[in-house]
Amino acid sequence: MTKNKNNQAIWSTRIKKNSSSLFQKVGNSIDIDRRLYKEDIQGSIAHVEMLFKQKIISFKIKNKIIYGLTKIEKEINNKKFEFNKKYEDIHMNIEKRLFQIIGEEAGYVHTARSRNDQVITDFKIWIRSSIKEISLNLDKVINSTLKLAEKNIDTIMPGFTHLKNAQAISFAHYLMAYVEMFSRDKKRFINNLDGLNENPLGVAALTGTSFNIDRNYTSKKLGFKKPTNNSIDTVSDRDFVLDFLYSISVCSMHISRIAEELIIWSSDGFKLINLSDKIVTGSSIMPQKKNPDLLEYLRGKSGSSYGNLFSMLTILKGLPLSYFKDLQDDKELVFKSYDTLINCLKIFDEILKNSNANKKNMLQLANSGYITATDLADYLVKNHSMSFRKAYQKTASVVNLAEKKKKKLNELSLEDLKKIEPKLTNDVLNVFDLKNSVNSKKSYGGTAFDNIKKMIMKYKKQK
Ligand code: ARG
Repeated sequence: MTKNKNNQAIWSTRIKKNSSSLFQKVGNSIDIDRRLYKEDIQGSIAHVEMLFKQKIISFKIKNKIIYGLTKIEKEINNKKFEFNKKYEDIHMNIEKRLFQIIGEEAGYVHTARSRNDQVITDFKIWIRSSIKEISLNLDKVINSTLKLAEKNIDTIMPGFTHLKNAQAISFAHYLMAYVEMFSRDKKRFINNLDGLNENPLGVAALTGTSFNIDRNYTSKKLGFKKPTNNSIDTVSDRDFVLDFLYSISVCSMHISRIAEELIIWSSDGFKLINLSDKIVTGSSIMPQKKNPDLLEYLRGKSGSSYGNLFSMLTILKGLPLSYFKDLQDDKELVFKSYDTLINCLKIFDEILKNSNANKKNMLQLANSGYITATDLADYLVKNHSMSFRKAYQKTASVVNLAEKKKKKLNELSLEDLKKIEPKLTNDVLNVFDLKNSVNSKKSYGGTAFDNIKKMIMKYKKQK
């Protein structure tokens, strides 16, 4: 029988010396992968139930193991479990404790499996439930964005290109752009579930096993659709990890973009957004300051998400098949990215609930920068049978004239306009009205108030 004294490594019969203390310090992953304990126990229970069903272990041993594992889960839940770095990871820590609780029969739990398939099984189950948690938080963010949009359907502001005033939009339309992005983020995460629905358990170290196991049975027990097809692929690849890290990166990039915009718009130069005291911080020297630190936190955090994605890609580049220790870092990267994203989503939700549009300043800014110039060009095309390019040139001359006279477009008289296009009549002046401008963009997906109302309704119904 294998010696399994509790202070010794499982491989101590073969490897006579302890590994160097430095390696013991850095090579273990228990502080990180202990987060997988529930999934690990769930996987082991499914595994021994299958071993019993297949007559590989006895009823008594199966029950003993399940008893031990259940006790361990309770111990960990109640913080009564002592994690030991010497046993490297969560799998070995649990196995060691199982020996202490039920004795030598614990040795049957690892029949027909390896840590290589065990860890991926745990990890896939963990990512699956994390996707649910992320989706819930994304729903909250989408909901808060919709609420803010609903309050601002008729809030007119400049839409920017190159950060220069471009054309008038509704603030709600801008917010709804992010509802689209966050909804796609959610879909992207949910699409990942497809890559997670194949069960790794039972491929063992890399070859499969000579035991007559039933991988369909464990698949069902653990909520997978089917067993994976190739044992080598199963223990080697981490593309499901990349998919998850990429989805987190895209979502944090979206958060980073809106955070940057809110930082700019709440700055003293713009003053388009008011941030409540709940979401700003002060300065240690300048008593007047209210800084958007939380938004800056959100903007910055996409950096670490990208970093984690690139670390994983780099670990996998050129790595031969099948399992190597290099792969162990996957969990640290995923946990870090996940924790950060959850924090960011919660913070962002808080920010949405504590921000208001400064409607007056938005309108005032929209009144500068000849923002209705395109409306005039469109008007000329529609009413004076001009090509768009011709109308564009005429309008550019109107803008030049306004600039020369130091006037806004809506301050020009019909006489002024007629100098450039004599056929113009009084109704042309309506195109310089910002509300008319916004509401004229009725094409599907455009910024007209009615479009926005419909879109908000559509999203609210989806909930
Ligand atoms: N803690 C290890 C990891 O996460 C488990 C797999 C260990 N397998 C091995 N052959 N050393 O990668």
